[in-house]
Amino acid sequence: MSRLVSVSNRVTVPRRSVTPGGLALGVHAAMQARGGLWFGWSGEVAEREPDAARIVIRDRIAYGTIELTQADHEQYYLGFCNGALWPLFHYFLDAVHYHDEQYHLIPLAQELRALGAQQPVGFFLHIPFPHVEALRALPVYGELMRALIDFDLVAFQTERDLECFRSAVVDLWGPEAIAADGGVVACGRRTCLDHIPIGVDVDAIQAAALAASSSEAVQRMVAGLVGRRCVIGVDRLDYSKGLVERFDAYARFLEEYPENQGRVTFLQIAPLSRTDVRAYAHLRRSLEQAAGRANGKYADTDWTPIRYLNRNYPHQCVLGFMRASQVGLVTPLRDGMNLVAKEFVAAQDPDDPGVLVLSTLAGAARELAGALLVNPKDTRGVARAIQQALQMRLPERRDRHQQMLEVLRRNDIAAWHTRFVERLQATHTPAPSALSTTRVTAKAS
Ligand code: G6P
Repeated sequence: MSRLVSVSNRVTVPRRSVTPGGLALGVHAAMQARGGLWFGWSGEVAEREPDAARIVIRDRIAYGTIELTQADHEQYYLGFCNGALWPLFHYFLDAVHYHDEQYHLIPLAQELRALGAQQPVGFFLHIPFPHVEALRALPVYGELMRALIDFDLVAFQTERDLECFRSAVVDLWGPEAIAADGGVVACGRRTCLDHIPIGVDVDAIQAAALAASSSEAVQRMVAGLVGRRCVIGVDRLDYSKGLVERFDAYARFLEEYPENQGRVTFLQIAPLSRTDVRAYAHLRRSLEQAAGRANGKYADTDWTPIRYLNRNYPHQCVLGFMRASQVGLVTPLRDGMNLVAKEFVAAQDPDDPGVLVLSTLAGAARELAGALLVNPKDTRGVARAIQQALQMRLPERRDRHQQMLEVLRRNDIAAWHTRFVERLQATHTPAPSALSTTRVTAKAS
């Protein structure tokens, strides 16, 4: 039996208070199902290079974490990850800050090969992959692509991301570098490509959301609505999430459909994220202004239109909030997948489900055709969709919910890691001398 080794920036170390984001939840599910080693950053910055990884073993999972030095934190995490790759891959080209001292985990496969590793090594990109016309803005895009094709399997969230990757392959190595099976043959390497949408554990979410409904936190939230209907948004405070546009769209909704004033509350949960990166501090100010603008204009003595919270709630509690809401507003300007959209659907009461309003620019829109799909920059269109969602009759809500639930079950979290690992295994027929088949997965943070 071979061993699964996952490498990601964040590791969900047991009993740490940090609530993991989308990808970490998926990797955690894979590790729980298969056991193995999960390696990454501890979240701490140290004075000196750490001597060794800290290993914690729980059940069948070994969690290995290391601290980053100040220089690593600046050049790798703040620099290349969040200063260059994150904005570039989400098409925020003006926000890209590249310096040639920056570096990343992506050359992991190259480095392992240099050390003589024979095992299959795969890479899953959980964020969008940009078209080559945007990617070309990165001075080292050729090196980046070269490092990526050193993996045996490179997988993306959607077919569109995969097509964008191929656009860069063709740009660098010509159309003949695309093999008959759609993979890449270049630089003496053969690389398999696939798109494998990350999903959620539908039954676990349904059960957790139902259980949370009777919790004190959810009861307090419902009591605070005093019978008003609730539109909910849940996002890390990130400029890719379209939060300023969302607040403006909600204000437009109150303006264009004034019968909702005093009757609908918008609850936006937005825990702070990457606060050391300048663009995030700027976003925070813009959002405070947008919330203040809308509340200043529409609030009444007994009603605040936008409840904007920078707090981080336990995952189960958030699922309970979602179940108690009539509309889920998920309007990123660009998103690899967006698991909040999937969680909102899974958390609903199937007999009386809420309606999802979803950005066409989220990967999830490729699967969730039962949502009301919107362009997040079209404030009038988003306002109209909120109104339509609130007015939608029960049979249509049930039909749409049922349809989306079927897709969620088909592409659930077990399907994601099973397909990835099977596809990775299929890339490799080990030579008899290399029968120890450790598999390694990595991600961009
Ligand atoms: C994205 C990823 C998550 C990650 C989160 C927070 O949403 O999908 O896996 O945890 O960002 O980013 P950070 O920079 O704090 O790891």
